[in-house]
Amino acid sequence: MAPSLTKEKRMSQAITYERIDDIAVLIAQNPPVNALGLEVRKGLQAGIERAEAEGARAVLIYGDGRTYFAGADIREFGQPMLAPGLPELCARIEASPLIVVSSMHGTALGGGLEVALSSHYRIAVPSAQMGLPEVNLGILPGAGGTQRLPRVAGTETALAMITTGRPIRAAEALDKGIIDRIAEGAPREIGLAYARELLETGAPRRPVCDMPAPQGLDFDTRYDALLKKNRGQLSPATALRAVQAACEADSFDAGMLREGELFTELMDSDQRLGMIHAFFSERAVSKLPELKGVAPRPLAAIGVIGGGTMGAGIATAALLSGLTVTLLEMTEQAAVAAKDRIVGNLQGALKRGKISADQFEALTTQALILATDYSALAQADLVIEAVFEEMSVKKTVFAQLDAVCKPGAILATNTSYLDVDEIAAVTKRPEDVIGLHFFSPAHVMKLLEVVVADKTAIDVVATSFALGKMLGKITVRAGVCDGFIGNRILATYRSCADHMILDGASPYQIDKAMTGFGFAMGPFEVADLAGLDIGWAVRKRLAPTQDPRERVPSFPDKLCEDGNFGQKTGKGYYVYEAGKRGGTPNPDVPGLIEANRAELGLTPRDFSDEEITRRYMCAMVNEAAKVVGEGIARRPLDVDMTLLFGYGFPRYRGGPLKWADIQGLAGILNDINVYAKEDAFFWQAAPLLQQLVAEGRSFEDLNRENS
Ligand code: CAA
Repeated sequence: MAPSLTKEKRMSQAITYERIDDIAVLIAQNPPVNALGLEVRKGLQAGIERAEAEGARAVLIYGDGRTYFAGADIREFGQPMLAPGLPELCARIEASPLIVVSSMHGTALGGGLEVALSSHYRIAVPSAQMGLPEVNLGILPGAGGTQRLPRVAGTETALAMITTGRPIRAAEALDKGIIDRIAEGAPREIGLAYARELLETGAPRRPVCDMPAPQGLDFDTRYDALLKKNRGQLSPATALRAVQAACEADSFDAGMLREGELFTELMDSDQRLGMIHAFFSERAVSKLPELKGVAPRPLAAIGVIGGGTMGAGIATAALLSGLTVTLLEMTEQAAVAAKDRIVGNLQGALKRGKISADQFEALTTQALILATDYSALAQADLVIEAVFEEMSVKKTVFAQLDAVCKPGAILATNTSYLDVDEIAAVTKRPEDVIGLHFFSPAHVMKLLEVVVADKTAIDVVATSFALGKMLGKITVRAGVCDGFIGNRILATYRSCADHMILDGASPYQIDKAMTGFGFAMGPFEVADLAGLDIGWAVRKRLAPTQDPRERVPSFPDKLCEDGNFGQKTGKGYYVYEAGKRGGTPNPDVPGLIEANRAELGLTPRDFSDEEITRRYMCAMVNEAAKVVGEGIARRPLDVDMTLLFGYGFPRYRGGPLKWADIQGLAGILNDINVYAKEDAFFWQAAPLLQQLVAEGRSFEDLNRENS
């Protein structure tokens, strides 16, 4: 018998109500991701009420389009939640006397999974994913997720999902008892069939709140471990306390109350502001108004020049995203070594299940071509050079590329500092030249700076952003200057650190203070990892144009002169033992620093960790404001994403300029002016910072005006 469709009427702008026999069907229609905004919540509540009033026996909830609910509407955060709130809505769904079924496809995330957990039965298509990613937004699941998930899946599974925020696939969810069934088909059809079957077999309502409290464990030890693992990010550890309440509270309602308190604590925190800023900024960063409607050039085959760590990393990333790569090296021997590096990288991808054995075979034998002659690059759509960082070398490479590459090919330099305009000028096609600054290891690091030179054509910029997307990178537009966005700012905060060392701090105290702030590594650990010779080469290059007022320490050069380049030589600011992670302070370093102080006639003083952090961050913010003010970065958020994805800046602080907004710009400017009394050359306040303070505006205002 064909189902009788009795009524179709929209309950709200975002939920459609249908009645099919005994089943009321609530269909979410809130593209793109069916976020649970006010209209959706109202529609769901009204739909449940109507189903009950009209005598339906079951309710089916599913999402139209690409997904079930992907979570609460993040844009509503920070405003009072209008009724019905998500926790009340979930309670209402769960309390319904009807059988409520959720049918999931796409991503059932956050509030979405919480709505599903409030339903009495859950079915999903095999490709569906589910998770509680709230900790990544600086909050915790606040609509019963911390209370219901451990009841259905057990405390360990719930803790793993809630404290990491990582989603799981339908098969695992079935295995853990989070869903009841997997079926192939459209969410509507499989959901209707399941609801009918439940009615026919007389299945009972099954509210999770009535299930027994989950098993407890040693929460205090886990709490400390989580705080440490997440470098001060509060949301995972706080979410654990909410799960603890599920185990230990006197009742389900008492647990919900505790979840609500902890949720509010996080919602009101600066970390939540930082993480939501990161969420929206990482999406906004590659949306450039000038690229709207600009078609990228075709991109199928690329060339990479230089097969060192950087070139091999770029080639690996390109191969993994389906591009054909011709790798050019100067000798057969070097080409073989480059191939070994790429194969090693791809073996890692194979081991982690990112590619199959067949794909590995195809990538290494077909998609990768080795060459030692420039003519092999004649048909490449785009060539990226990753050769030695010296202007004369780059110029030679570009002159050769200009001679062999087909018309319309994009010629890109992976330089970290050098003037892309000057490089472009050696070719007869500067409009095709651009900077593509990858970060090492390039197949792992998420950041790509696209450095747009004076004459770069707009479709070359569009193609570079398309490449970034193919490679799964966070792609940021930068203008030409020494170091572009990231390395220019790094050079400044590193100088600030060096100045503090001359004045009495130690590299180890600075590293400790900055990892305490949440950085993945301190600046001296980073320098050791990157190779101290790189900074040394930059300092030598810039020495002739140095301003005499600049404070230049000599201890970093002395370290290099002795052949200590950091991790790769086993010694830098730290000493590294083979096979051991991390290093121990190099005992030679204090002597070099003391000698430098003596040479300059400086008497060391004590620095507190707070002062170190404040000076370091003020230097970073000030340079970042100059970078935005000069148009090197379009918007403050471009700087924030650069630091987050390329420099280990703690995501929960949102980026240096979000941090500055939260701290208050006036206070930062004031401190910069105080520091300027000791060193007026270094601490010149950025004009943009002064202007924002004078006008009572923030970096966020600039983001809004320019997005
Ligand atoms: N609220 C508002 N907007 C959202 C959103 C949400 N929960 N999730 C995604 N969007 C927006 C994005 O900002 C983007 O907008 P633009 O096109 O304007 O940039 C658009 O939807 C599409 O998103 P993506 O580009 O990210 O699309 P994708 O296909 O790559 O990924 C996704 C889809 C996996 C759902 C991803 O968007 C995502 O992870 N979203 C966040 C999910 C989440 O964290 N949910 C939990 C919310 S918190 C919560 O639910 C709290 C609670 O317990 C009360």
